[in-house]
Amino acid sequence: MIRGLGIDLTEIDRVKRLAKRHPQYIDRILTPREQKQYEQYSNQRAAEYLAGRWSLKESFSKAWGTGIGKQVGFQDIEIIDNELGAPIVTKSPFNGRVHASVSHTGQLVMTEIILER
Ligand SMILES: CC(C)(COP(=O)(O)OP(=O)(O)OC[C@H]1O[C@@H](n2cnc3c(N)ncnc32)[C@H](O)[C@@H]1OP(=O)(O)O)[C@@H](O)C(=O)NCCC(=O)NCCS
Repeated sequence: MIRGLGIDLTEIDRVKRLAKRHPQYIDRILTPREQKQYEQYSNQRAAEYLAGRWSLKESFSKAWGTGIGKQVGFQDIEIIDNELGAPIVTKSPFNGRVHASVSHTGQLVMTEIILER
């Protein structure tokens, strides 16, 4: 049964600028395991990855119904790409299956999260 659905669109350049201006932003958004994946990338791919994680977590917070805040924060959700490149939710407060999907253009990243139980 579907318990929640969340979508988000994020501007890649905005996230890139924030990360450049405030390096601590990366520690706030990415878990240590996500940071390890992020560090393997450079330039546009790194920016896409960071904006994608930001957006996936916003999508999760909408599927969860709270937004990002006291009830769920960026460090409460972790999404790791598997060996084929698919995003797998490895940590979240939801006690069920979490489905994640990501798509980019040069400027935008779009994400979707479905909560199933
Ligand atoms: C809910 C949240 C995720 C919305 O994100 P946003 O980027 O402000 O706005 P979006 O355009 O992506 O989404 C807006 C839509 O989210 C939906 N929404 C708002 N609150 C929601 C909630 N609690 N649950 C599910 N959906 C919600 C609404 O449909 C809203 O559309 P509307 O304004 O036309 O009604 C946002 O409140 C949030 O938690 N953002 C995190 C912000 C943050 O930490 N910023 C720090 C910057 S460094």
